[in-house]
Amino acid sequence: MITVNNLSLRYGKRILFEDVNLKFTSGNCYGIIGANGAGKSTFLKILQGDVDPTTGQVTFSKGMRVAVLKQNHFEFDEIPVMQTVLMGHKTLWAIMQEREAIYAKGDFTEEDGVRAGELENTFGEMDGWNAESSAAELLSNLGIKENLHTKLMKELDGNQKVRVLLAQALFGNPDILFLDEPTNDLDVTTINWLEDFLADYQGIILVVSHDRHFLDAVCTNVVDIDYSKMTIYSGNYSFWYQSSQLVAKQKADSNKKAEDRIKELQDFIRRFSANASKSRQATSRKKALDKINLEDIKPSSRKYPGIQFNNVLREAGNEILHVTDLSKTVNGEVLFKNVSFNLKKGDKVAVLGNSIAVSAFLAVLAGEEKDYKGSFTWGVTTNVANIPNDNTRFFEGVDANLIDWLRQYSPDEKDETFIRGFLGRMLFSGEEVLKKCNVLSGGEKMRCMFSRMMLLRANVLILDEPTNHLDLESITALNNGLTDFKGTALFTSRDHELVETIANRIIEITPKGIIDKEMDFDEYIKSERVAEQREQLLKMK
Ligand SMILES: Nc1ncnc2c1ncn2[C@@H]1O[C@H](COP(=O)(O)OP(=O)(O)O)[C@@H](O)[C@H]1O
Ligand SMILES: [Mg+2]
Repeated sequence: MITVNNLSLRYGKRILFEDVNLKFTSGNCYGIIGANGAGKSTFLKILQGDVDPTTGQVTFSKGMRVAVLKQNHFEFDEIPVMQTVLMGHKTLWAIMQEREAIYAKGDFTEEDGVRAGELENTFGEMDGWNAESSAAELLSNLGIKENLHTKLMKELDGNQKVRVLLAQALFGNPDILFLDEPTNDLDVTTINWLEDFLADYQGIILVVSHDRHFLDAVCTNVVDIDYSKMTIYSGNYSFWYQSSQLVAKQKADSNKKAEDRIKELQDFIRRFSANASKSRQATSRKKALDKINLEDIKPSSRKYPGIQFNNVLREAGNEILHVTDLSKTVNGEVLFKNVSFNLKKGDKVAVLGNSIAVSAFLAVLAGEEKDYKGSFTWGVTTNVANIPNDNTRFFEGVDANLIDWLRQYSPDEKDETFIRGFLGRMLFSGEEVLKKCNVLSGGEKMRCMFSRMMLLRANVLILDEPTNHLDLESITALNNGLTDFKGTALFTSRDHELVETIANRIIEITPKGIIDKEMDFDEYIKSERVAEQREQLLKMK
């Protein structure tokens, strides 16, 4: 168990934490969420003893050993894989180092002899003789084959490095595992693998993540950092979100009888629990849900942006888009080739592939990129709104406040109150709308782009990594908006949950041709037929 008592932390006038009292218990996985800068990483550093709190204490049950999954994938680049893993057990590693240094000495004093004896003893007690073989076994279990164990870390690819760093963290069976945004830069296969691994892990896990699919797969509890307070909730991210929305809705409806409210909540928990028990990593999450008290469910004080795209200027007809033999080559390198397909009305297509190729492909269809071969035609009733990967050109050198910025995109209505309404839905209110658009943060710019997209009232949406820089609330709002959208969409996203819940069709573009399947994302990544087709395709001349 980890107990946090009366914790507070101030940086100058800024209060990061105040009056934090929490307990973390074995067998649970805690997902830490909160806005950028809320203090998630700092909280993990306090628990590790790397940052001293202003007041309060953190205590661990006796003998508990903590391990951390390193965030910096390059930290061990010059070190061999095997040694990187051994370094994970700090005490043992220090003994190994000292022992080696003594034996390397030319003149071996009596003192050295005594010290060497002591070290040998502790080394033996810590099962040091088996350290290498158990590290090797751990690596192999994590999918790092023996031929890689002697290589330097820098010779491994990003996904392999994370596996080694995880082996480092797990070496010597720690009781507590800390992970700070572990899914950044990982491919979907490695993330799935990490989800399975953590779901089976017996110790205490604290993990910071913005990845909803990952949080849902591993967490038994959500730890919310909001306005310097920290609160633990039971259940995974979706449970936290949906249950707190439900309670907020019940609160707003003052006519509802108390017993009706309780019944509605109980039904909700039952349905959620039934779904949880169907998933692979069910046991621990199911247990967490079974223990929930109705009083534990509190309405969220968080504000969600309102994203919805259904108020279109006109509905599209049945002709949406014909693409014939579309290809693009940059400096002799083929980005995509022989892309042909028809879009059906209402299709929501996730485009997969090399991210540069996918961005170029979406830019071509959006009419932004003119250098390509082949052809495409949009249906006459379609109108397309686009959120490109790089939105610099919308903001750089533009000296307008948010109202004037957005007004220029409004097809008809130019009234300030009307424009403010769209900014308000994206949580820009009061004085904030008078900010200059070129000073905005990445997340704020993205929110402006959504205001613009809603205002354009298009019946076809193109979105290239729309969750970049967004916080969890905005991602959730975007996800809801796209789920409800009745028009047609082409998009690409690293957010697993978004792709899984939105796309009814997947188009993967490669330098040799495309794979085009009407299925959802999870089905697609697991499909052996798709994997075979990809292999055949890439073999082609
Ligand atoms: N040593 C420090 N001195 C002053 N401010 C700091 C220090 N370390 C972090 N901060 C600030 O504390 C806040 C929380 O940072 P962090 O824990 O990294 O946030 P998160 O991981 O939730 O995004 C940030 O605003 C950061 O700038
Ligand atoms: Mg952080």
